Amino acid sequence: MKLLVVLSLVIVAIQGANVRHQRQFPDDFLFGAATAAYQIEGAWNEDGKGENIWDHMIHTNPNVIRDVTNGDVAADSYHNYKRDVEMMRELGLDAYRFSLSWPRILPTGMANEVNPAGIAFYNNYIDEMLKYNITPMVTLYHWDLPQKLQDLGGFANPLISDWFEDYARVVFENFGDRVKMFITFNEPREICYQGYGGDLKAPILNSTAMGTYLCGKHLLIAHAKAYHMYNKEFKPTQGGQCGITISVNWFGPATDSAEDQMAAEIKRQGEWGIYAHPIFSSEGGFPKEFSERVAEKSAQQGYRRSRLPEFTEEEKTLVKGASDFFGVNHYTARLVSATLYKEAVPVPSLLDDMDVGHNAPDDWATSASSWLVLAPNSIFNALKHLKERYNNPNFYVTENGWSTYYETGLMDDGRVTYYRASMESLLNCLDDGINLKGYMAWSLMDNFEWMQGYVERFGLYQVDFSDPARTRTPRKSAFVYKHIIKHRAVDYEYEPESLVMTIDEGH
Ligand SMILES: *[C@@H]1O[C@H](CO)[C@@H](O)[C@H](O)[C@H]1NC(C)=O
Repeated sequence: MKLLVVLSLVIVAIQGANVRHQRQFPDDFLFGAATAAYQIEGAWNEDGKGENIWDHMIHTNPNVIRDVTNGDVAADSYHNYKRDVEMMRELGLDAYRFSLSWPRILPTGMANEVNPAGIAFYNNYIDEMLKYNITPMVTLYHWDLPQKLQDLGGFANPLISDWFEDYARVVFENFGDRVKMFITFNEPREICYQGYGGDLKAPILNSTAMGTYLCGKHLLIAHAKAYHMYNKEFKPTQGGQCGITISVNWFGPATDSAEDQMAAEIKRQGEWGIYAHPIFSSEGGFPKEFSERVAEKSAQQGYRRSRLPEFTEEEKTLVKGASDFFGVNHYTARLVSATLYKEAVPVPSLLDDMDVGHNAPDDWATSASSWLVLAPNSIFNALKHLKERYNNPNFYVTENGWSTYYETGLMDDGRVTYYRASMESLLNCLDDGINLKGYMAWSLMDNFEWMQGYVERFGLYQVDFSDPARTRTPRKSAFVYKHIIKHRAVDYEYEPESLVMTIDEGH
């Protein structure tokens, strides 16, 4: 009897191990890599491109960037786009997510003047991908607003929704015959909280009381107008999809107490629920508990109305359901406490409105970025929550990646560990029935990491920023990712024989 039990345990263990190795991604699962215009393109003032808010901020105040660099040249993809596509082929990517520079297409931000050189550049980039069966996934806005629109208030001005709709129409008219996946905005939280409510991204407005919320509401309306316009004017003939990407890191409770569970919920609502709920929930509008908290604090602070603006019923209806998929940028997680780990924050502000603390346990591996730690199974935790809350829409992980320092060089084992952990978490999502359709690694190559300049590197390919040719060299993680894509599975034993990259047949 004992022997039988032991034997069956051994069999179960062997089966378990096999399942772990056999778990596969479906053939139509879209594997890709991602970048953003300002971070890679360079050519900041070439061929008629207008000034964006990063050009303006850094040229006016270079010291806001950690290593006093900028994106004037970056990885120079404007001149190296063919090499970029060659890298996609080397990796065997199914898809490539990149963004369009609004002021490269519309130098003043407005649609009265379209820059033909800007259109030509993106046509070339797209056509080069399509030549090799790589699906372009195009983000319309990844943080580089035309400065002329910022001068008019940017996302604090409700008219941004009309300006964005006009820009989006130019994009769909010019590229929608070949591009079938559009993302309107990349990461509303980073645009609105970091750029308007704080001083962590351009335009560093630091308008802590209301900046985040005004921007959030206007951005959501801009997204919805562009979405409906695509649906009405372009989808019938072009047949593509239009969605949005929201940064969704995981926030679980530090303990099982009711207080900590509520704290985690408030954190989730304040960090990403205020952008996700109006679009993906069945009731629409900003999430309830967080709205009540801001209203209460606003009243205590002497405001005559909540600092979180209401949506009219018409606006609520416009925004609700306005997305064909949910793009999730996911990197990390924190444990949230109602009482512990709190830091001094400005009052009033989003952080004060949430009024919770968070922590990362010491045994979660750390990266080159202070905010980025490897949390166990966190893609699954985030997507499982979104699935349940928002009725399992189609999901794409549109960014996920790991930072190293330049000094780490090509043998980036920390990134390899991170990507393999991500793959296991993605497979857990698929096993759970989450409608997850694809995954974009951040990033195809090293690039200008915003306020961190070139200090923190996220590339599968290293870029030599001291070389005028901006030579790209694959890291170990590039080979590991290529192996995963090719076999649709994670092989923990795999080690590249050398770091010499070639293009496989059929790519
Ligand atoms: C933003 O505001 C906070 C306080 O509200 C202040 O500590 C910080 O220095 C400000 N940042 C800038 C760039 O002015």
